[in-house]
Amino acid sequence: MNRIVAPSMLSADFGHLERDTRMVDASAAEWVHIDVMDGVFVPNISFGFPVLKAIRKVTPKFLDVHLMIVEPEKYVARFAEAGADLVTFHLEATDDPAGCVAMIRQAGAKAGISIKPATPVEALRGVLPLVDLVLVMSVEPGFGGQSFIPGSLGKIRELRAMAREMGLETIIEVDGGLSSHNAGEVYGAGADVLVAGNAVFGAADPQSEIVKILSA
Ligand code: DX5
Ligand code: ZN
Repeated sequence: MNRIVAPSMLSADFGHLERDTRMVDASAAEWVHIDVMDGVFVPNISFGFPVLKAIRKVTPKFLDVHLMIVEPEKYVARFAEAGADLVTFHLEATDDPAGCVAMIRQAGAKAGISIKPATPVEALRGVLPLVDLVLVMSVEPGFGGQSFIPGSLGKIRELRAMAREMGLETIIEVDGGLSSHNAGEVYGAGADVLVAGNAVFGAADPQSEIVKILSA
């Protein structure tokens, strides 16, 4: 799979959401990452359906929705219906990952599962054949602008090896603390999609930072 960058709209200027979405739409980024936080699964609250729908109106790009919420089974279908192309929920947030995946597919979206830094890759073995994508968190979920946890590189390699051994073409996405400075080694470890919030929206030239990440 070709390298993909997914700018995280969590770091956008919400007073200029349309402008920032158009900037991403006109950039080399193929995906747009949308972080939904409920204040329970993570100690922060971001936004929900109205913001997702507003972004959907402005760009036809692939909307990658990352749910950091408890009881995702209650909401996954609604996020798909609100315009998500991919709905990713956390393994730690549900007792029924297979049920969540089925609801996401039924609603017409691709299904992803995410693990926090402390969750071992081995915990994904049962669910791996069911999902399109695994999102490996390389910071504790909840906030943008944190530092990449170096141990994440080993998890990416282990996950790539597990998928290969099971004959799966699982998409591997990595999220947290990424920039053009570490993108090369993260793609090199086996990642397909890199999320970048602060690095993109904090750059003097966000579109050239996106190109730098892709060519790191
Ligand atoms: C963190 C979010 C990330 C975050 C990444 O909980 O899931 O997507 O926006 O931001 P940076 O790239 O600034 O670490
Ligand atoms: Zn995210």
